[in-house]
Amino acid sequence: MAEFTLRLRRFDPESGDAPYWDEHKVDLEPHRSVLEGILQARARFDGSIAIRCSCRAAICGSCGVRINGQPALACHTHLDKALRGARDGVIEVEPMGNMPVIKDLIVDMDAVHWKKIRRVTPWLIAKQPVPEREYVVAHENMVDVTQSMACIQCGACVSDCLSMEVDPDFIGPAALAKAYRFVGDPRDAEQLERLQDLAEDPAGIFDCTHCFKCIDACPKGVAPMSQIMRLRRRATGDHHIVDRNNGARHESAFVSLIRDHGILWEAELLPRSHGGDSFFGKFAPAAGAELVDSLPVIAKMLLRRKATPMKILRPHNLPAADLKQIKRIYTTVEGREERFELNLYISGYDEEESEDTATAAVAADGGGQTAAESGQPGQSPEGSPTR
Ligand code: SF4
Ligand code: SF4
Ligand code: FES
Repeated sequence: MAEFTLRLRRFDPESGDAPYWDEHKVDLEPHRSVLEGILQARARFDGSIAIRCSCRAAICGSCGVRINGQPALACHTHLDKALRGARDGVIEVEPMGNMPVIKDLIVDMDAVHWKKIRRVTPWLIAKQPVPEREYVVAHENMVDVTQSMACIQCGACVSDCLSMEVDPDFIGPAALAKAYRFVGDPRDAEQLERLQDLAEDPAGIFDCTHCFKCIDACPKGVAPMSQIMRLRRRATGDHHIVDRNNGARHESAFVSLIRDHGILWEAELLPRSHGGDSFFGKFAPAAGAELVDSLPVIAKMLLRRKATPMKILRPHNLPAADLKQIKRIYTTVEGREERFELNLYISGYDEEESEDTATAAVAADGGGQTAAESGQPGQSPEGSPTR
């Protein structure tokens, strides 16, 4: 047994009082979970502490909270581990972000998370005619969507999404990962329509800023950002969708700038995103309009000396030898006949292989961690059943 101090964020909107911190000491074995600590504090000291939980085994996704500022499942975080991440020897537990608080540690998942999940039509639209017997789906197709199927809808990624913080309309990591579950399923009849919808929505796939936060936050290894990138590759690479949000053109401007300079040159990014990879691109009316729109931000940047006009306007270039290496990568990747998908998710043991040689099948390139290495055969990285 050891003593742990929990500092809980308390808030009851109906009381009219402001949120406050509430501390309790609990006695538990160090390998017990933060959730058990909270439940003990509730049983011993204050029956009004509110937290949502059910399975206590990292499966139902109910107990998402922030522990020491990081999103986590309370039932899946050991007290000793949480203590190591605590700033002053006290484990801080707060409700998840980006969602309104109903009471204490319970957020309104319906108002944000579930609303966004419903937005992506989260069910299979079966191709017609439906076969008399079962559909047979290729193994690699199932591996490709298994990662998004591992989601337990805990909302941890939503809580930490930086884009959603700025634009609450953003469909968000969990819902877009769910969308990939059906876009990547060969039995779905409306893959193109789904992609068009998600690309054309100003709060859709191009609203993600690649911040990686959702990958770090997810307790199930779903890697929502990777699913969003897969949606983008399908939209732009496979279906050549050029969206009205300029997302596809912006993306290809990034690609061409890195190929030409080896490093991003922001001043050139805007005209290339609107006018393409040519001298005349600089005079695209849409680029001019956006430049005018951005002038206050640029002025602020200059005033704060974050950049100088010369630094912005002069092309950024890597040394020639390094640039040559970058170009080699492009030549290799663009020279492939087929797009090379990198899905590092674990699919399970191959039954036909002997125990010694059994390794997890990994989609596409066979890289990444195997089930044998992770000790989680045939399951998601945290050991929960996939769905
Ligand atoms: S990578 Fe994209 S979806 Fe994930 S948290 Fe960042 S902005 Fe949100
Ligand atoms: S993607 Fe991961 S973090 Fe997001 S809701 Fe699903 S399980 Fe939770
Ligand atoms: S209580 Fe079910 S995931 Fe924590």
